[in-house]
Amino acid sequence: MSPNRRPSTATGNLLYAQSGGVTAVINATAAGVIEAARGKGVKVYAARNGILGALREELIDTSKETAAAVAALRHTPGGAFGSCRYKLKSLEDNRAEYERLIEVFRAHDIRWFLYNGGNDSADTALKISQLGKAMNYDIRCIGVPKTVDNDLAVTDCCPGFGSVAKYTAISTLEASLDVASMAETSTKVFILEVMGRHAGWIAAAAGLAGEGADAPPHIILFPENPFDETAFLSKVKATVERVGWCTVVASEGVRNAAGQFLAEAGTRDAFGHAQLGGVAPVLAALVKEKLGYKYHWALPDYLQRSARHAASKVDAEQAYAVGKAAVGYALAGMNAVMPVIVRTSDAPYRWKIEPAPLAKIANREKKMPKHFITRDGFGITAAARRYLSPLIHGEAPPPYGKDGLPRYVQLKNAAVAKKLAGFQR
Ligand code: F6P
Repeated sequence: MSPNRRPSTATGNLLYAQSGGVTAVINATAAGVIEAARGKGVKVYAARNGILGALREELIDTSKETAAAVAALRHTPGGAFGSCRYKLKSLEDNRAEYERLIEVFRAHDIRWFLYNGGNDSADTALKISQLGKAMNYDIRCIGVPKTVDNDLAVTDCCPGFGSVAKYTAISTLEASLDVASMAETSTKVFILEVMGRHAGWIAAAAGLAGEGADAPPHIILFPENPFDETAFLSKVKATVERVGWCTVVASEGVRNAAGQFLAEAGTRDAFGHAQLGGVAPVLAALVKEKLGYKYHWALPDYLQRSARHAASKVDAEQAYAVGKAAVGYALAGMNAVMPVIVRTSDAPYRWKIEPAPLAKIANREKKMPKHFITRDGFGITAAARRYLSPLIHGEAPPPYGKDGLPRYVQLKNAAVAKKLAGFQR
């Protein structure tokens, strides 16, 4: 038996929590968790606002939700139980927090903890997975992957990414048709800013909108490459002169040669990440000042990661599958692992799920490999296309009502009665 696996006691409750930036499909993972656990007769509690809910003993009893409501999570964006960005310190630095977690787990007989998040959350999950031994309480912790940034190590892709990739590719295509129509007498340059922080996966996905020198996007700016103003402006100019217009897709994480973000809001979150946003207007002003072209720019921001109406079917299926697998691993007695997506074939696209040690995932960031970016630094290669394309395949639209709006579910989120005194952090 592997060190990550201990015999399961198979009794007790399971706690599920959502963490970090939410996605269009994180609730599909929640549905996978709840449906799989129900199938095994295990009660699922959800923490309100991620790990904070566990610390504050703010638990939600998902057994109060109907099967139809849980199923509707599969097509509802946002985080149904609330999420958070909250960094647990090390056991040595803040033992009180860990003692509190164990106290809450013990009070509610929580034996399995599933933490659904990105690389920072994988670190939290890893710390909690080590608690059992340190504090003499039998708890198994499974990290469940999620992040639009697609930057988790080990897994081939991250649930949440396929849908933001599809939204970005579609938006690039559609806005390009618009600017092409207007270019003769009006707008010459359209700039789309996308999320992705330190990794250019979302920006790269825009490249799926078209192929060939004259097809949009004509320029992609990756955080992996330092911004070269001269090369950028000369490519914008050459494209406008040749094609008549130019579409640019820029990652929010683009940095100058000195390593500074082109657009940093000046605030930082609990993990020390800079709040980003605003590269597009900086680039637009540059284009206007140096080349004189009329421009439009767009910053879809939360629109891109909540656009469930344009979700990828593959992504929605993978999000559900990792939730289901996580329950299987937990009930089988595994600890400190994450269900990861393994690609077994590009075309036809095939994938499966396997457990991977959290220690290989926590706090690591997977960037775009060099061979996915064209030599001039402004586009994606055939290898990148092969990787990205299957992830946006298929549609999984939500049901729509007569009012023309998607039918998203609002859960009851019934609170579990508290048993402990409040926790001051
Ligand atoms: O979770 C990743 C992400 O979507 C990033 O791409 C983005 O920079 C960040 O979250 C925004 O975080 P928040 O919603 O906390 O401002």
